[in-house]
Amino acid sequence: MKVLVATEKPFAPVAVEGIKKEIEAAGFELALLEKYTEKAQLLDAVKDADALIIRSDKVTAEVLDAAKNLKIVVRAGAGYDNVDLEAATAHNVVVMNTPGQNSNAVAELVFGLLVYAVRNFYNGKAGTELKGKKLGILAFGQVGRNVARIAAGFGMDIYAYDAFCPADAIEAAGVHAVASQADLFKTCDIVSLHIPATAETKQSINYDLCSTLKKGAIIINTARKEVIDEAGLIKLLGEREDLKYITDIMPDANDEFAKFEGRYFSTPKKMGAQTAEANINAGIAAAKQIVGFIKDGITKFQVNK
Ligand code: 3PG
Repeated sequence: MKVLVATEKPFAPVAVEGIKKEIEAAGFELALLEKYTEKAQLLDAVKDADALIIRSDKVTAEVLDAAKNLKIVVRAGAGYDNVDLEAATAHNVVVMNTPGQNSNAVAELVFGLLVYAVRNFYNGKAGTELKGKKLGILAFGQVGRNVARIAAGFGMDIYAYDAFCPADAIEAAGVHAVASQADLFKTCDIVSLHIPATAETKQSINYDLCSTLKKGAIIINTARKEVIDEAGLIKLLGEREDLKYITDIMPDANDEFAKFEGRYFSTPKKMGAQTAEANINAGIAAAKQIVGFIKDGITKFQVNK
């Protein structure tokens, strides 16, 4: 039984070691494809793989066609928009994610980026503090909850909206629940995005919504670039010199955004989940889920039908 770890952005070596131990303890074999640059390398590596562990690596119908022995793909992480679920189902391949395993890492990065932003990217000019500011968390899932926990330590006034999480569950976490996404944008000084990229959310953070932001507001995106209407946000940043956009996922129109000097920052490569701890948590969870599925047919965390 061959398990391939295919990661364009590799896990920390300590996480790969942990994955290897799990896989070998089950009597399986581990293969590693890291930092690949061509799709052809992935197509070649998956040929004889029975199981696949990926991160944001794209698993398309073409990859599934090439992977004749494949039974399971585990996305070591939360978002699985990089996997063609319909094609996987058609190929009889189970797809899983590892929810929650990297959420603290992403939440911590939110605050690393926010302090950097409110202190004017450390350019020497007086900035502002996070204490007392209204933070809006868009989607109260595992990352959103961790963001709320850390924001409380900063003394922020915390709001959240989640289309799928009832207001009382948000309030139970000590966070003000607002009635809509529109209310969150109108109310908060900082809006932190934690929505997945789905047909409904793609380009939903658009000109009209963002133009209701308060003076001096910041949008921080550690979710997905696809949720942003890039043209709309560029237009708005051009019209409103008070707004900032901070992101961990470089937009397609990065060069256009980069013109808003002092009001825009993107990490060069998505760094939210890139900690040893998150890599260990998500990577080993993925390995365990593969062993559980192959040996015992356990389908907990399956995301396709
Ligand atoms: C996730 O969905 O888990 C995060 O976006 C992390 O993605 P990455 O594994 O590509 O860093």
